[in-house]
Amino acid sequence: MKNTNQKTEPLQSLDEWEDDVVRRYPEEAHKAKEEFRNYEAPARDTVKEFYRINHINQTYDFVLEKKKDFLQFNRREMSLWDAVEFLNTLVDDSDPDIDLDQTQHLLQTSEAIRADGHSDWFVLTGFLHDLGKVLCLFGEPQWAVVGDTFPVGCAFSDKIVYPEFFKKNPDYTNEELNTKFGVYSPYCGLEKVHMSWGHDEYLYHILKDYLPEPALYMIRYHSFYSQHREGAYDHLMSAHDHEMFKWVEKFNPYDLYSKAPTPPNVKELRPYYEDLAAKFLPDTLKF
Ligand SMILES: [Fe+2]
Ligand SMILES: [Fe+2]
Repeated sequence: MKNTNQKTEPLQSLDEWEDDVVRRYPEEAHKAKEEFRNYEAPARDTVKEFYRINHINQTYDFVLEKKKDFLQFNRREMSLWDAVEFLNTLVDDSDPDIDLDQTQHLLQTSEAIRADGHSDWFVLTGFLHDLGKVLCLFGEPQWAVVGDTFPVGCAFSDKIVYPEFFKKNPDYTNEELNTKFGVYSPYCGLEKVHMSWGHDEYLYHILKDYLPEPALYMIRYHSFYSQHREGAYDHLMSAHDHEMFKWVEKFNPYDLYSKAPTPPNVKELRPYYEDLAAKFLPDTLKF
């Protein structure tokens, strides 16, 4: 997919967003468990522009509309491996020498999880966690596929990256939606909360009947940085959410910091992942 429309598609590659997350939350700071935010190197203009469009357009109504459409799962039926290969047809303008393709990111994440001796469902989760990015191949713009996710239907936290861009979101001045709790109630639990629309929420709904609950939390909330790194929405979280977010936090470093010097051998690894898929998933998944 060539990046021909810079106005609506500012990122040269979806990886540009993830690279920026790593810049914001560097691994060194994570290891040192310091409260540390990287203000020194500003994001590239493309990333900033991406957040600007994302924050303006992700409204409560937009999210409800996308759910109504995409949660019919009437676009494509694929086996897990077919979906991985389909996602890999997503080619951006980025430098192929620097950026990994989508399959390699998935395999590096899952292989790092496997190397640490975690359960098979956790490894499988690493392998499929970004499959929701096929939304791009269904014609969705970048800002409705990737980016940090956040609750809609209540006030936007200033702990979300570039909070100033929310001022032009129509919900910002909507009195029903712009209070601390908005349409929700204190500690109501995230199950009741609508998140901004993107690859996380989409894939959660595709897989929700097949994987254990910690896996579903990892998938659904892995881009919810303002909560799992900043604790900005404790007032909506239930005690159970907090328990489950321990898994989201366990997963996040594998997603961000698992880039290995040698790319994984896709051909060699395929049978292992097909066996894993057969253990947990039906033969085909509906997208
Ligand atoms: Fe992701
Ligand atoms: Fe990822």
